[in-house]
Amino acid sequence: MTNDAAETESWGFSTKAIHVGQDPEVTTGAVTVPVFQTSTFAQEAVGKHSGYEYARTGNPTRTALQTALAALEGAAFGVSFASGLAAEDAILRMLEPGDHVVMGNDAYGGTFRLISKVFGKAGITWSAHDLTDIASFEAGWPEKTKMVWVETPTNPLLTVVDIAAVAAVVSKHPEAHLVVDNTFATPYQQQPLSHGADIVVHSTTKYIGGHSDVVGGFVATNDADVHDHLTFIQNSVGAVPGPWDCYLTLRGVKTLGVRMDRHNDNAERVVELLSSHPKVTSVLWPGLASHPGHDAAMRQMTGFGGMVSFLCGSRDSALRVAEATELFTLAESLGAVESLIEHPGAMTHLSAAGSPLEVPEDLIRLSIGIEDASDLLADLTQALEQA
Ligand SMILES: Cc1ncc(COP(=O)(O)O)c(C=O)c1O
Repeated sequence: MTNDAAETESWGFSTKAIHVGQDPEVTTGAVTVPVFQTSTFAQEAVGKHSGYEYARTGNPTRTALQTALAALEGAAFGVSFASGLAAEDAILRMLEPGDHVVMGNDAYGGTFRLISKVFGKAGITWSAHDLTDIASFEAGWPEKTKMVWVETPTNPLLTVVDIAAVAAVVSKHPEAHLVVDNTFATPYQQQPLSHGADIVVHSTTKYIGGHSDVVGGFVATNDADVHDHLTFIQNSVGAVPGPWDCYLTLRGVKTLGVRMDRHNDNAERVVELLSSHPKVTSVLWPGLASHPGHDAAMRQMTGFGGMVSFLCGSRDSALRVAEATELFTLAESLGAVESLIEHPGAMTHLSAAGSPLEVPEDLIRLSIGIEDASDLLADLTQALEQA
């Protein structure tokens, strides 16, 4: 059985996640895409081969993953990398010395470090803007801007950027590309290309993999030139995911929809608890009607996700709470089945200290897993007693 493109186009999200690019294997009928653990492929005659020559350039397990993820983003093309930052690096290599990147003033610290410290050295300039203020973003458009980098919702402040509104400004500058980091929302609840983004990037380490057992990155686009650039970099630089990484990520993808539904429900219960807790001064979650980005979230997202951040008055209180949970594991990363807690200022976003992307010192970030909500609530209740 081979599914044709027209048929798969009409499928729902989870059907695509389970089947696109994942037909039974032709020689044995294996229902699950095999781990093609090989570095090279036999050729019948010089240059006459199955389409695979060398595993940095291409591997069937990777092809399956790329095809499935592209379908989930509604994209013509998908390219996988060894990590989310390797995927970002491949995109940023489109820039030349003297080019400028505009990024949000709230983003993953590693993205900020890559743009400012790695590409900064290569002659790329950058500036951080409040991308929720569209009028000032448009008025302040820096000369030589070739890329606008949006994360929404952001890590860790859960700021929502209106993708269509930013795309409307970027489209007035045909030389510039709009990149959206869709890691927090996932394609299950937000598809940036349909709102005008040119490029979508993921850390598949997070919700897409979903089990804290694999690091990976992915880029989706409908632009054939961008795709050519990405596959050139994938092969020339070689930051490729191995076949086991692709297999594990693909295995995670199959349950993305059901996991996200549960993450959303559990997050809603946690937000209810935190919103009425005397030790919590502010709760950040796009599903709250009081969240400044709630209206934009309602327009571009179909669920609000399992990431919840909150403020608890002082750095010391935040550190005490982060160290007091028993079920929530104190760890970096996010988006997996188990719940995690962290202090961004001292952990994931330490590299943004002293920059426009510095985060509040009393901030705690939760990645709400898919355990039973009652157990998560009990754990947070006892930990907040330490605040
Ligand atoms: C929003 C976001 N983008 C990109 C990355 C980088 O991904 P990776 O850790 O897979 O390199 C992260 C990592 O935490 C992230 O949270």
